[in-house]
Amino acid sequence: MPIFFLLITLFTNAALSEESQIHLKEDLGKENIISQCSICHSADYITMHAKILDRSGWEKTVGKMINVMGAPINDCDKKIIIDYLVKNYGK
Ligand code: HEC
Repeated sequence: MPIFFLLITLFTNAALSEESQIHLKEDLGKENIISQCSICHSADYITMHAKILDRSGWEKTVGKMINVMGAPINDCDKKIIIDYLVKNYGK
């Protein structure tokens, strides 16, 4: 019964695409995170570290993503991303 498999596939896809946009708070910078941080890992990595990192923690983490992991993020976007993280997911 192919229709059954089609439905399963549709549901799975819907679940997956919701997952990748995981409840990041609406704010200036969210789009940057989705497009620039989610190329390597899901936004879970961010929400998991919410409330543990303060500004200097997020600065270090984003710096590590750029310098060690090679995230292609320019200084202007870096600032927007850090401000977003500190405001919405800071300690
Ligand atoms: C080029 C790929 C890449 C990009 C782009 C990237 N990351 Fe990561 N990130 C990684 C890898 C790989 C790990 C796992 C590192 C580890 O386990 O030490 C990681 C881990 C993390 C962690 C877990 C804590 C830690 O220090 O390991 C956080 C938080 C995180 N990333 C946030 C971000 C944010 C925010 C962005 C966007 C500014 C981003 N990442 C962009 C590759 C990337």
